[in-house]
This record gives sequence, C-alpha cells and structure tokens, in this order.
Amino acid sequence: MSTFSDSGNSKQDSVGKRLGIDYLLDIKAIEQDDAKDVISGLKNNPKSIPARYFYDQKGSQLFEQICALPEYYPTRTEASILEEYGVEIIELTKAIELVELGSGSSTKTRFLLDGYRDLDSPLYYTPIDFSGSMLQTTANNLLEEYPQLKIQGKVATYDRALKQLSTYYLGKRTIIFLGSSIGNFDKKECDRFIQRVTNALKPGDYFLLGIDLYAQRYPLGQKPVEILEAAYNDAQGITAAFNLNMLQHLNDRFQGNFNLDLFKHEAIYNTEQNQIEMYLISQASQSVNLKSLDLTIELKQEEKILTEISRKFDLQSMKEYLSKNQLNLVQTYSDSQQWFGLLLCQKAIN
Ligand SMILES: C[S@@+](CC[C@H](N)C(=O)[O-])C[C@H]1O[C@@H](n2cnc3c(N)ncnc32)[C@H](O)[C@@H]1O
Repeated sequence: MSTFSDSGNSKQDSVGKRLGIDYLLDIKAIEQDDAKDVISGLKNNPKSIPARYFYDQKGSQLFEQICALPEYYPTRTEASILEEYGVEIIELTKAIELVELGSGSSTKTRFLLDGYRDLDSPLYYTPIDFSGSMLQTTANNLLEEYPQLKIQGKVATYDRALKQLSTYYLGKRTIIFLGSSIGNFDKKECDRFIQRVTNALKPGDYFLLGIDLYAQRYPLGQKPVEILEAAYNDAQGITAAFNLNMLQHLNDRFQGNFNLDLFKHEAIYNTEQNQIEMYLISQASQSVNLKSLDLTIELKQEEKILTEISRKFDLQSMKEYLSKNQLNLVQTYSDSQQWFGLLLCQKAIN
C-alpha cells in the first residue's frame, strides 16, 4: 500500500527516502459509484454532473490557471492571509503532522511550511488528493524545497483518507482544508465531511478551514454580486474552458459524444442560497449518448446542467456550526475587506 521509492543519485535518494505515497483509490468501487452518480445526475430534473469531473489532467491544469486570474479573488486573498499569519498559525498549533485535504499544487501551503524552517522539529506533511500525478509532482517539488520535510501523501478521496487517518497517529495533527472547497458541498455532504474530520483528530488537535465570506461590510451583507460573478466568468474564458472540459472528461471516461461546441458556460450568484451556481447550457435541442453507461439523454435548447455550487459563508454561523461538531474556534484570520476567512479550530478536549 505504501511506497518509499529508491533511486540512483544522492539528491534524489534524499528526496526518495522522505517520500511515501499511499494509493487508496478503490478503483472498482469508484467506477461503480461514478457510473451511478453520473446516471442519476443526468436523469435528474434539473440535470447535474458531480463536480469531481472537473479534475482530469487538463482540468487540474486549468484550475491552476484560474487561481492566477485577476478576477478570481479567493486564491490571492487566502494566500495573502496565509502569508501574513502562516508562522503564527504554526507556532500556535505546533503540529507534527500537517494534513491537507485536496492539496493540488500545495502553493498556498508553502506559507505554512515556511513556518517550520526556523523550528527544530520534524514535520510530516500528508497531502491528500485523488489526482495522483498532481500529488506526485507536487511532493517531489516540496521535498527539494524543504529539506527537513517528510511527506506521506495519499492518493485518495477525502472520505477514504479521513477514515484511514482516524486509525493511526504520528503526533499532534492539524488538518487543513483551503480554497473554500467546503463551499462545493451541499449541506448533507458538509455534515458528513465535518464529522469525518472530527473523527480524524484527537482532542486538542487543530482544523484550519478557508471560507469565502459574504463580506459583511456591504449593503445586504454580501459582496457585490458583480465581483462574485466575475470571479467565475473571467474575461479570458479559462473558467468556461474548465467547465466545458467536464464534458470532454465524460466523453473520455464513458465513450460519450457530448459536442462541446453545443454548450455554453454560465455562472450566476443565487442571492437566496448565497451560492455561485455553475451551469453548462445546451445551445440546441440534442441527444447525447454515453455508450459505456448505456445512457442516452435528451436536452432541450437552453436546458441547464448544474456542474458546481460554491457556497459563501457567514462567520458567525460557521463558528456555531463547527462548535456543534466539537471544533471550537480559536482564532479567525481575515483580510482588510473581510472577503475571505481562515478559521483555526481546536477539537474539544472533553
Ligand atoms: C479546487 S482545488 C483546490 C486546491 C487547493 N487546495 C487550493 O486551495 O487552491 C481542489 C483539489 O482537490 C482535489 N479534489 C477534489 N475533490 C476531491 C475529493 N473528493 N477527494 C480528493 N481530492 C479531491 C482536486 O484534484 C484538486 O486538486
């Protein structure tokens, strides 16, 4: 299950000895779940596709480009908060193991890892991502940059990795979940996820959560809708390409015949639900076949397929929600406009 690689030259040796990767994807179960979820989403009214289909190799690359877009304020705002408070967070939590869910390129995580440079303590970093190639490349880069770091990555879904984390303990643990990715879960998925996080922590361990805020300073208690919508409808069309790539991913995976030219990207802010909703809109009345699923769907002109929700949060409600789940808020870090929040919570001691 776990591999520590061995290699020829000494620099790579030192990297190889500090790297272990657990491959925890149960391909058979995933294939069954994937097929079931795609079929039920596309048969539903309104139609939907699970957001995890964003992330094939091209999707992961497009997401990295989204993070650098001028309109996409969440990444740079969260990065600026981590840059300012990363060392303080490390000094406060004193984790031996830093676990990151959905680590991707671990770019912002470096502000936390920097906090260990001056400490004389070992650090295990446990990146978790179901994209194995992204995790492997990132881990190798980090080991070159941080000579005292040991990495025990997991190529796994959040669920599977959190279940495994609850069965062993390397030492004081902090779990981080950045990018407001929690906003992509509906309420039920969120409850299940937070419960799993709590179970993977011991009393006194920490959870650091990044959330996109309503920004209380604005009238109606929200950021201007134009700013929110622009973040998901960028001028260069990268988010549109990211959204449309999901159909290509389905074509590749299930022998499908989605014609990407016959769909248009749209992202709108739903002010009642406080969430961005991302859609693919059919530009014609059409049928689409996914051969390996034995599925044919009919789409009307202008019919929408929901591909992602991105919920926005209120600090106080999130604080109460977390504490109901034994995660007590210790410190809130934010930017000057209060657009984004980093919540440091500690698992209740009793
Ligand atoms: C939106 S990106 C966020 C990356 C980074 N944490 C950030 O804040 O910029 C989500 C990352 O989580 C991974 N991911 C998404 N859903 C996942 C799941 N259910 N289990 C494991 N990894 C997942 C994707 O491959 C991707 O690298």
